[in-house]
Amino acid sequence: MKVLESAPHRYDKGIKILTLGKIDKAYDRVIENIKKHDNVLDIGCGTGMLSFRAVIKGATVIGIDINPEMLEIAEKRTEELKVEEKIKFLEMGVAELDRFENESFEVVVSGLCFSELSDDEISYTLHQIKRILHTEGKFLLVDETRSKSIVKRIVNLFLRVPLIILTYILTQTTSRALKNIEKEIEETGLKIQSRKSNFLDNFVELVIVRKDMK
Ligand SMILES: C[S@@+](CC[C@H](N)C(=O)[O-])C[C@H]1O[C@@H](n2cnc3c(N)ncnc32)[C@H](O)[C@@H]1O
Repeated sequence: MKVLESAPHRYDKGIKILTLGKIDKAYDRVIENIKKHDNVLDIGCGTGMLSFRAVIKGATVIGIDINPEMLEIAEKRTEELKVEEKIKFLEMGVAELDRFENESFEVVVSGLCFSELSDDEISYTLHQIKRILHTEGKFLLVDETRSKSIVKRIVNLFLRVPLIILTYILTQTTSRALKNIEKEIEETGLKIQSRKSNFLDNFVELVIVRKDMK
């Protein structure tokens, strides 16, 4: 999705078109897991699509992202919605997650960010999430995935080819669908509590808890 991040003012509209509206529905669904007064961390928050939904549910949110232009839009929206007391955006990457204390969040959310992380970053981020998540907390992950079915992968590739080419021409980079994320989650000591995927298996919504949850 980096092609959109290079033009953050077009990001929200673009992402809705590219995901054929399913991103809004997925975010609305996962956010149902957030309760009033929860402390929430949004990893790779971008313009705040998940962060603002969490605030509307009554949570207090910290959103982190490495792209200052995406954060600028999130900050403007914070002022417009007058929710400065409930939300804070920090320019920082997942490599700095060690600055948060153990068990400091009831909920960690992340939408379409893991598919932009390297394998090492994914592994590190999962371990950090387990550490900073409250024992009874939830990690809500929405992202692009790679289907195990070859047929579905081929269909998906044809649908994505125009986007992959365009992204590469503009940014020389591209996001990559997550391959083994569910296995990695389990190996980190986290447990998938619920899973929702679409027909092509190229998009997943996961509700994850700690294995040692009380
Ligand atoms: C496709 S956007 C998704 C933004 C937002 N979560 C949403 O759903 O609209 C991915 C975001 O992840 C951020 N990101 C990529 N690598 C990151 C890293 N290492 N640490 C923190 N954020 C990162 C990007 O800057 C970008 O804003």
